[in-house]
Amino acid sequence: KKKIVLFASGRGSNAEAIHDAVVEGMINGEIMALVCDIPGAGCIDLAKSWDIPVIVVDRKQFDSKDAFEQFILDAIAPYEADLLCLAGFMRLLSGKFISHYEHKIINIHPALLPSFRGLHAQRQAVEAGVKIAGCTVHFVVADMDAGPIILQSAVPVYESDTEDTLAARILTKEHPTYVRAVELFCEDKLTIEGNLVKGTED
Ligand code: GAR
Repeated sequence: KKKIVLFASGRGSNAEAIHDAVVEGMINGEIMALVCDIPGAGCIDLAKSWDIPVIVVDRKQFDSKDAFEQFILDAIAPYEADLLCLAGFMRLLSGKFISHYEHKIINIHPALLPSFRGLHAQRQAVEAGVKIAGCTVHFVVADMDAGPIILQSAVPVYESDTEDTLAARILTKEHPTYVRAVELFCEDKLTIEGNLVKGTED
């Protein structure tokens, strides 16, 4: 089984989808811990209810990004993780951090990358007037929202949509899409060739 560490900053619905799929036996993995950078975030109570160790790391408690990241690296080292899943983790990890887990960090972004990187992706989509939006699961590289794409799912955008209604529609696709990507990773189906991911088709 692959050892998975979840990273989240907010409500934790993607972390929950991954956790539930592990419990149901869909994912050949084991969740070792959850890392959260926001004291009081919903994902912390969720992970506690699953009896999973929670590591809360408040960036404000550290003098530098480097010290903050080193604390996380030291805290998760004992778990010998095969996979770090960023599930609504709203911080950019440095190249140095990523180099410790090369090709072992994946992220979900609520847009069809490479469109709408960064914050408020769903608002960016509404404001751009695109007719199709969606989500992307990708390997993490030092550039924000730029790594090799594993899976994407699309949803329509309607004229009546607001940022919130579109975000809710995209979220219903995020959960199964993220679960499928983690499932493929944990079965060693994914290979990275340059900026491309192979092994995602049935
Ligand atoms: C999700 O929509 C996720 O795609 C997004 O944050 C939300 C977290 O929800 N992530 C990003 O915007 C990353 N840049 P959750 O806490 O319920 O999983």
